[in-house]
Amino acid sequence: MQRRSFLKGSGTVIVVVVGGGVWRAYDEGVFSVGEGPAYQPWRDWQNEKDGSLALVRAAILAASPHNTQPWLFKVTDKQIELYADTRRYPGALDPYLREQHIGLGCALENLTLAAAANGYNATATLLPGKLQPVPSNPQPALVAHVDLSPGNRQTSELYDVIPHRHTNRAPYDLLNPVPVDVTDALIGLTNEEPEVKIFLFNSESGRNRIIDLVAKANKEVYADPEVENGSQRWIRWDWSDIQKYRDGLTVDAFGLPPVTTAIIKFSPKRLLRKFAPRGNGDPYADLLRATPVFGLIAVRDRYDQEQCLRAGRIWQRAHLLLTSRGVAARPINEAVELIDHERLRNQEPRTSAQLADLTHDATWQPTFMFRVGYPIRPALASPRRPVKDVII
Ligand SMILES: Cc1cc2nc3c(=O)[nH]c(=O)nc-3n(C[C@H](O)[C@H](O)[C@H](O)COP(=O)(O)O)c2cc1C
Repeated sequence: MQRRSFLKGSGTVIVVVVGGGVWRAYDEGVFSVGEGPAYQPWRDWQNEKDGSLALVRAAILAASPHNTQPWLFKVTDKQIELYADTRRYPGALDPYLREQHIGLGCALENLTLAAAANGYNATATLLPGKLQPVPSNPQPALVAHVDLSPGNRQTSELYDVIPHRHTNRAPYDLLNPVPVDVTDALIGLTNEEPEVKIFLFNSESGRNRIIDLVAKANKEVYADPEVENGSQRWIRWDWSDIQKYRDGLTVDAFGLPPVTTAIIKFSPKRLLRKFAPRGNGDPYADLLRATPVFGLIAVRDRYDQEQCLRAGRIWQRAHLLLTSRGVAARPINEAVELIDHERLRNQEPRTSAQLADLTHDATWQPTFMFRVGYPIRPALASPRRPVKDVII
């Protein structure tokens, strides 16, 4: 729970720094935010000489759970196959790889936006399937292919903001409401989708119910040591690890104030664990309170592979749309993760009943939740593995 609480809270971190800090500050990337090979993919994502490989450069900048980047691509001039790299997932937090498939849908969305911008007509085919508990020796699995043919170059607002979309985990400004044209545009994203629907909540009562539900789910799901351990494997505390693995969650992306971020980065990690922020009350609930609009993406069957991919495409589109309007967003998925948890353990499906209560329509199954608002500070980029590491 300790490591996760940095991510969740924005409370004060009290750290006693015992001398010798400056060299550590260099070592831990305090002065090199967003630099080094781990961040290079954000800079060289457009290369016209790449042919269809340019599409993969855009795809790898997509969102993924815990920044696991669970994708592999087989690329020719005429087709790109998208595989799930089923080894890359945060363990018991995603026991059916439901979130992994949503992340793959995010990559697919960037890929198809980039196809149009690079002069291709693209037809995406999503492969059907039912998600099952992860086998002990998971193998890469084909989930979609995109067929390419020459077309007109068409950039779009959403394509242009691909390198500016970052998950923003800071508080949002409650005095600056999200304009109705933005919320309408979000809702409109699923108008043509028979199996995916966006719900938004901005009333005080709706927001309070979500804050309560998500904050409680966070405590409950992370109380399971298997979940906590699976999640921690993807938290990259050390700058050298970030540059080596180029994935996972980093302190820079926690959404904390810059000074707090710097202190955490150059402090010995033993000390940090001891002084992890606790504060009074629940810092995650406090953070959630600083949210003018909550939303969720629902599908007809949350364990249907194709619908997971479609939900991911919608999230990526939604986040790009918000980015293009200067509005921040962050997924907050603990309640849906708790649904997986209850299902795997054959427990009463309490949490899915609570979410159905919220949407007033049990025929839609929430699979992804998020918060939206104008941020009090910008979000920073997260690391990415290079294209050569994800091509098979
Ligand atoms: C399916 C899915 C679930 C996610 N759940 C959460 C979450 O519960 N909390 C959170 O802070 N971020 C969540 N994220 C955001 C990822 O951590 C983020 O996309 C990843 O770290 C890469 O960072 P970026 O989005 O800034 O590029 C989720 C992303 C996806 C695709």
